[in-house]
Amino acid sequence: MSTKLNLVLIFGGKSGEHAVSLLSASSVLNALDHEKYNIFQVGITREGRWTFAKNTLEAFEHGQAESLNEAFILARNEVPYLYELIDEKLHQVTQVDIVFPILHGTFGEDGTIQGLFEIQNCAYVGAGVLASSVAMDKALAKDVVSKAGIPVLPYRIFSRRQIENDVLNVMEEVEAISAYPVFVKPANLGSSVGISKVKDHSQLLDALKLAARYDRRVLVERGVDAREIEISVLGNEEIIVSQPGEIVPGDEFYTYKDKYHSGDPETAIPAPLPEQVSEQLRTWAVQTFRAIDGAGLARVDFLLDKNTGKAWFNEINTMPGFTQISMYSKLLLHSGIEYKQLIDRLIELGLERKAEQVRTIRKFEVDNE
Ligand SMILES: Nc1ncnc2c1ncn2[C@@H]1O[C@H](COP(=O)(O)OP(=O)(O)O)[C@@H](O)[C@H]1O
Ligand SMILES: [Mg+2]
Repeated sequence: MSTKLNLVLIFGGKSGEHAVSLLSASSVLNALDHEKYNIFQVGITREGRWTFAKNTLEAFEHGQAESLNEAFILARNEVPYLYELIDEKLHQVTQVDIVFPILHGTFGEDGTIQGLFEIQNCAYVGAGVLASSVAMDKALAKDVVSKAGIPVLPYRIFSRRQIENDVLNVMEEVEAISAYPVFVKPANLGSSVGISKVKDHSQLLDALKLAARYDRRVLVERGVDAREIEISVLGNEEIIVSQPGEIVPGDEFYTYKDKYHSGDPETAIPAPLPEQVSEQLRTWAVQTFRAIDGAGLARVDFLLDKNTGKAWFNEINTMPGFTQISMYSKLLLHSGIEYKQLIDRLIELGLERKAEQVRTIRKFEVDNE
């Protein structure tokens, strides 16, 4: 009997980070141990169609996703299977032991696909529904994290409606939160898309309108001249936390272009920081992970004021860039965890989380007192 795990790798997706997901998936696919796993590749097109083939990733990389068969993960009697649609008929491909969704951003990192896995009773790598969706919303994440006593920059959230109907009031409120510069961001996006650094009143209106195109909720917060510090977290109950790393953006801030087009930004691992600051940030990273009920992995990002040295939580990513050379993996490598080992561990953690769920009592009867 084979003891290999049937693992479904899912990549692509409807988010703006589709291309980033393919890069992460390629790295994971190269590192996955074929002795341990039967690997099935499911690609989600930019339109949201799930597809399956032998070499789905290759087809996606060559822009040939459209020719692939449609795929589904569906549970029968609580057992999840991967199906392929051939001539309008569903064909069972495999029973699924675990899914590894390497998806960034909307529909992949925000709890929606995690909800689908829950409904199909399928184990999966990474954070659950709640942690994913809280982490995805920059404002809610700050609410939760600040409640745990971790400092966040002053911010306000505005709705698209408010911006469309009452922008003068919105602008007044923004100017009451903080002096310029302020950062204006869609609450639910990543990769710096739709984000502006606003240096004076004249730039505010356009920045608000831009962010409101990308999300119904727009976050405005005080801008600081800051160093960018990132920390990797790995685990469920017992947590491994890396040393802090530092990103030195090539642009005025860490923009989309800087992240993906102008080569690697400069990084330092570990970040040159006084021991005490490193330890404080590592403690906050773990507290952040616990505060949102994280699972599996996360990268926790802080801003460190260049002038005062004060640190703030900026955001937590539950599916950070995950190539072998991404900050997330490099930080853990520095802690002695090789990429292959990291992937094995994440899969174990996904199975462990599932086992923990199975222990939870779902049926109970009220005692007649
Ligand atoms: N309040 C702020 N002050 C200074 N720089 C900021 C601030 N907020 C964001 N930035 C800059 O913008 C970049 C992107 O913002 P971030 O909130 O991390 O969104 P994303 O999810 O797109 O990475 C950060 O890496 C940082 O360079
Ligand atoms: Mg960021």
